[in-house]
Order: sequence, then structure tokens, then C-alpha cells
Amino acid sequence: MARKPLMAGNWKMNNTYAEAVVLAQTISNNFDKHWTDSVDVLVCPPSIDLKPVNTVFEFDHQPIQIGAQNVYWEPKGAFTGEVSVPMLKDVHCTCSIVGHSERRGYFGETNEDVNRKVRALLDGGLYAVACVGESLSVRDEGGAEEFVCAQVRAAFAGLEPEEAGKCVVAEDKIRKMIIAYEPIWAIGTGRTATPEQAQDMCAAIRTTLADMFGAETADEMRILYGGSMNVGNVEQLLAQPDIDGGLVGGASLKADQFVQLVKACL
Ligand code: PGA
Repeated sequence: MARKPLMAGNWKMNNTYAEAVVLAQTISNNFDKHWTDSVDVLVCPPSIDLKPVNTVFEFDHQPIQIGAQNVYWEPKGAFTGEVSVPMLKDVHCTCSIVGHSERRGYFGETNEDVNRKVRALLDGGLYAVACVGESLSVRDEGGAEEFVCAQVRAAFAGLEPEEAGKCVVAEDKIRKMIIAYEPIWAIGTGRTATPEQAQDMCAAIRTTLADMFGAETADEMRILYGGSMNVGNVEQLLAQPDIDGGLVGGASLKADQFVQLVKACL
């Protein structure tokens, strides 16, 4: 089936308030709202920039979604430094990234944490962009597929097919859980997985989703590739049958490049 692609920018810990507004405004100025008829577009700034970035897009009536880079599973309380699902909803986020390899690697986020976050987002009516991906040593040992598919199973453990596939209703749209395959060795390194490597893993992920939720739901769920995606390699990656868009770090920090990546999905 034809899945609508999603192009997502992960700004990571970049941009002050003023820089975030300038970048969002530059994206908006160069964005044709009709593009979102055929591609969903998502920007994930740091939490402190969510509100101003969304204000820019809403003021310009741009149908660009905003999402968080992380979220905590409790709705409120004594959890110093954390941000909850209701807080994200309040500033009009549609989703949050969960389980990014930087969070797993630097901040000790576990598969169980990722699963709790997925559940909290789901219960709050937001979707998750659940990141999975192997290190170079796991790939070199030949265990990449097993490792990544285990991460997928853990992230979505306990979800019913209708929760994974059709659960989330926001702004009259049904939104589904998303997986982003990001090989750690390709993130921020300039070293991209070959289209074949990325396709093989995304196909294995879809087989895992089919096993968990049934073929029909798996066929509807979008799987993104992330890891040094840029204007030079995007076309080949998007040409793969199981790659439904991108989760882009470095290249999403330049408005012209991000807009070109969006246009590559048209
Ligand atoms: P990159 O980051 O595009 O800079 O490699 C991707 C990501 O980590 O989401």
C-alpha cells in the first residue's frame, strides 16, 4: 500500500529561543502548505522552543507538526527536570521521539522506559516516534537484525493492533505509531547506511510489526530512516519500499536543506 511519507527534523540540543524562531520562520517562509497533502512534516525542537516554534507555524497557518525529543511517562509530580504528555499536548505537540540512541547511550534510557513512554503518549492521544538502531560492533558481529527487532518488540510491548495502527486521533486525523531506524554508526557521522542496508532492516522491522500486530496494521505503519540523511542521499533512501521518510538531525538545522528534504518526498 502507499504510505504517506513523513519528514521529521530532530534539532537535538541546538538553537536558542531566538535562533529557533528564525529557523522556524525561514522554514515557514519557504514552505508550501499544499505539500502536506502528500507528505507529513514534523519539527522536533528542544522543549523550551516548542511553544515559540509552534506559534510561528500556527501564525502562518502552516500544517507543520511539532513534537518533543523526549517525554516522561508520569502526568505530573515531583520529577525534577522532566516534561509530561499533558504538557506537550498543551503546546500542541502531536508526538514525541522516544528511545533515541543518544538518550539510550548518554542518559541510560532502557527498552522498558521506552515502552512506558510509548504507553503514556498513546494514552494521552499522541504518537511516538520510537527510535531503534544498532551499534557498529553489533552490526559487525552479525546481530543487527535480531537486536533491532528486539528493540521494536520491547518498545511496543503490550500494545493492541488497533493501538499501534489506528489509535491516535488528533485534529481529526488518525495517527499511528512510528518507528525510526537509526543505525548508531550513521548518526552525525556522515556515514549513511546504504539504501540496501536500510531497506533490509526496515523490511525486517515491518515483518516484526506484522508478527506483533498483523500484516494489515504493519503495512500501514510508517518506518523512517535516520542517520546522516541529506539532500544527496535522500532520493535513493526514499526509493526503498519499506522506507517511509526520514528522521533528520544535522540537515534539519538548515532551513533550505530541510525544505529540500521535504520536497524530495513529494
Ligand atoms: P543526523 O541525526 O541526521 O545528524 O545523523 C539523525 C538523528 O539522530 O535523529
